[in-house]
Formats: sequence, C-alpha cells, structure tokens
Amino acid sequence: MRIVFLGPPGAGKGTQARELARAWGVPHLATGDMLRSAAAAGTPLGLEAKRYMDEGALVPDEVIIGLMRERLGAPDAAKGFIVDGFPRTIAQAEALDKVLVETGQALGAVVFFDVSEAELLRRLTGRRVCRRCQATYHLVSAPPAKAGVCDKCGGELYQRVDDGEETVRNRLGVYGRQTAPLLDYYREQGLLRTVRGEGPIDGIRRAIREAAGDAR
Ligand code: AP5
Ligand code: MG
Ligand code: ZN
Repeated sequence: MRIVFLGPPGAGKGTQARELARAWGVPHLATGDMLRSAAAAGTPLGLEAKRYMDEGALVPDEVIIGLMRERLGAPDAAKGFIVDGFPRTIAQAEALDKVLVETGQALGAVVFFDVSEAELLRRLTGRRVCRRCQATYHLVSAPPAKAGVCDKCGGELYQRVDDGEETVRNRLGVYGRQTAPLLDYYREQGLLRTVRGEGPIDGIRRAIREAAGDAR
C-alpha cells in the first residue's frame, strides 16, 4: 500500500488516514502533523515552519522535500505508507516520484477527497484536535463525549491557530492555486481516484478502501 491522500484543507484526510494506516499496518505520514510537532518541540525547522503555517501559507518546497525524503527512507516506510498533505505542489510531486524511482517503489493510487467549499469552512472552523494523540473532533458533527477532552486518550482538545475563518480562507486559496494542479498531474499518470468526501465517515472509508484496491 503506497497511497497519497490528496484534497483541500478539511477534506477529512487525517480522519481517514489515522484509521486506515492502522488497518493496513503502514505508517501515516502527515507533513502537517510532523511540522506541528516540530514547532511544539521548538526545533529550528519547526519554528521556521510555524511562521508560514499560522498564516495558512505553504512551507517552502526545499524544507518539505528534505523532511519527506528522510521520512520515506526510514525502515517502517519500506512496507508501504499513506502520505497525507504531501505532495502539495508540482515540485513536491516530482521530488516524490524521484525518491520512489531511486528506491524502486511505485505509488498504488492517489485518492482525491472531493468536498464542497461551504462544507470545508464548516468543518475547519468547528474542528478540535487532541494535543496528545492528534485525534480530530468537530464541535457539531463529531463532538467528544466530554467537552474539551479526547475520548480516545483523555488528552486536552485545542483549536489549531490556522483554523480561524480568515486563515481558513487563505488556505483554501493556496490549495486552489498551488495544490489543485496535482489533480491533472496524477490523472495523466493514471493514478487519480476520486472519492466523494461528504457523508458518514464509515461510508467514505469503504469508498477509499475500494479506490485503493483493498477489497476487504
Ligand atoms: P495540514 O495539517 O496538512 O492541513 P490541511 O491540508 O490544511 O488539512 P487539514 O489537516 O486541515 O484537513 P484534513 O483533510 O486532514 O481534515 P480532518 O481529517 O482534520 O497542513 C497545515 C499547514 O502545514 C499548511 O497550511 C502548510 O503551512 C503546512 N504544510 C503541510 N504540509 C505541507 C506541504 N506538503 N508543503 C508545504 N506546506 C505544508 O477533518 C477536518 C474536520 O472535519 C474535523 O473536524 C473532522 O472531525 C471533520 N470531518 C472529517 N470527516 C468528516 C465527515 N465525513 N463528515 C463530517 N465531518 C468530518
Ligand atoms: Mg490533516
Ligand atoms: Zn487523544
């Protein structure tokens, strides 16, 4: 399983990847999660990245490509992976292709999550995330049993700095300009599989399994 999850902010990539990576026994490589933990740890890379992330802009390609080249080379990624939030530019997609060629691997599918802009805004502005395990909730459509507390691990829930309405609009604009061109890039390679990303989370998960060639 070498799968890319592609889609706008709030499309549900992280929600689905966390479950499916466990089911498939492969690592979930989410550049956003990696950058946020680097920022929380106060590393130079994390602090540099945070300046871009807080505004909803993309972190420079060379930073992300270096990070992912290293991460994809780790032993656990040899048996497969789900990448979530990467690639996000044509330069990143070309770099990924290069890494895969060098290691004699190939992508199985690129799953595109199709969600309307109104729904993306609703999801992101109501999202809450667990500080400890990164599980994701929504104030209205997926609330935790106890307000502010993670059902899975008891950790504290917080709102991402970039989930304010103005920054969300920036992120959607950046997605349209810099990331949406990847749809054609992967369509031309015959890898693109589109999944409707609205509706019950379980139904979407089944559609992704099918798109990824997992018939279970
Ligand atoms: P990143 O963390 O990747 O954010 P993103 O792509 O903007 O995506 P999100 O995590 O916001 O959305 P998601 O699709 O994971 O949705 P989720 O499952 O949480 O990146 C953050 C920043 O890091 C970037 O802006 C950039 O600065 C930097 N960065 C990261 N990667 C980079 C790269 N490659 N290059 C350059 N810069 C990079 O779900 C959202 C909400 O919806 C949740 O509340 C959830 O509960 C709810 N939900 C999910 N599914 C459903 C459903 N079916 N129905 C109803 N609600 C649902
Ligand atoms: Mg995410
Ligand atoms: Zn948690």
